Amino acid sequence: MRVSVIGCGYLGGVHAAGLAALGHDVVGVDLDPDRVEQLDRGRAPFYEPQLPELLAEARATGRLRFTTDPAEAAGCALHFLCVGTPQRPGEHAADLRFVDAAVAALLPHLRPGDVVVGKSTVPVGTAERLHEQVVAGCPGATLAWNPEFLREGHAVRDTLEPDRLVLGLADDGTRDHARALLHEVYAAALDRGTPVVETDLTTAQLVKVAANAFLATKISFINAMAEMCEATGGDVTDLADAIGRDARIGRQFLSAGLGFGGGCLPKDIRAFMARAGEVGAVQALTFLREVDSINLRRRVRMADLAREECGGSVAGRRIAVLGAAFKPHSDDVRDSPALSVAAQLLLEGGEVVVTDPQAVENARRSRPDLKFAAGPEEAAADADLVLLLTEWPEYVGIDPRALGRVVRHRRLLDGRNAVDPARWRAAGWSYRALGRPALAAES
Ligand code: UGA
Repeated sequence: MRVSVIGCGYLGGVHAAGLAALGHDVVGVDLDPDRVEQLDRGRAPFYEPQLPELLAEARATGRLRFTTDPAEAAGCALHFLCVGTPQRPGEHAADLRFVDAAVAALLPHLRPGDVVVGKSTVPVGTAERLHEQVVAGCPGATLAWNPEFLREGHAVRDTLEPDRLVLGLADDGTRDHARALLHEVYAAALDRGTPVVETDLTTAQLVKVAANAFLATKISFINAMAEMCEATGGDVTDLADAIGRDARIGRQFLSAGLGFGGGCLPKDIRAFMARAGEVGAVQALTFLREVDSINLRRRVRMADLAREECGGSVAGRRIAVLGAAFKPHSDDVRDSPALSVAAQLLLEGGEVVVTDPQAVENARRSRPDLKFAAGPEEAAADADLVLLLTEWPEYVGIDPRALGRVVRHRRLLDGRNAVDPARWRAAGWSYRALGRPALAAES
């Protein structure tokens, strides 16, 4: 099938390459000439495991190309909208300018029978509005909504092997046609038995934000339990292991620590709340305000612990921060809890040195005032305190004895409850984490 993908970031870049590898003829359209040039040469413009291999495989078929010219989408049967919907500066609501621009650019090139397929995360009601524009601009064309659930760091697998497909179809007489095209483009996943949930446009948009709101709530729930453990001397990791055994609860997304960041969960719950207000259902989502507050409080608590560990003030203390990305296996630093803690300690006069296996470049661009090191040993040289803020496997697996030789004081704050405290204590480190009792070094 000939398909276009409008917007080639974390979502669209992987989607375009994935569809080409599955046998479709794909043109990716993006406004950013640098990104287009890199993708067109088979280079991933951001760090995403397996994407370079997927791009190479897709390019070898000769069925994948990238361009800045939306006119090249002409002649495609499906047009996937994969542009970003960031938070509007100073507001909770989503900024829809890229979605609106993408549809406006596409309209002159649509033909009757074409289906525009929204994948971007949008406030409910957007798809209905875009559907009207598409039908008015090109009678016989239509719009469907097909939300995406990929996680950064696992984007290739999530794209090629989704756990479900949600198809939101318009009630405009084109349902069967749109369904047939979507079933054709996703034939590989459907043949494997991937469940399909067919809905109207409204529900499909809600499914996406509801899923992210639930995940954010789950994380904040366990972080609220961490606050209770801190107040009472309990251990949130044991608590999560125990309640997670209940199949109705499940252990996933119950890792307490610094909380959620990134380009999705934080802005999506805020945009969802803003939309609830606009549609007269503000009370339905006021609990998300608490989810957001619990999440942000974890960063404050981490800075409090750092201050305590340094005897009341971090001023003039050398602090090593392991991790800048919002989560491991990503170079994304948008709303990164790790960077936000590092910046707070810098503000308080700490000599903060940050390292990350992939995100140093992005972190430097976003926080040029921070110091960066190439690796943990360099970051931790003469450190008074080491903070583990993103649980990259290489940090979780660090040899505490070796790292202990380069620091000034063997004090670890584990912001992700990621390492084995016994191993670090045995190597002479004191250990503190969010939601767990403090442990002194073994003598
Ligand atoms: C999230 C969703 O998980 C995807 O399903 C969705 O498609 C995507 O947003 C999106 O809307 O595009 P992502 O932002 O890549 O994916 O990252 P997650 O794996 O959800 O992690 C989000 C944050 O939660 C990270 O900062 C992570 O460290 C934190 N987290 C996750 C916890 O603090 N505890 C946990 O137990 C799990």
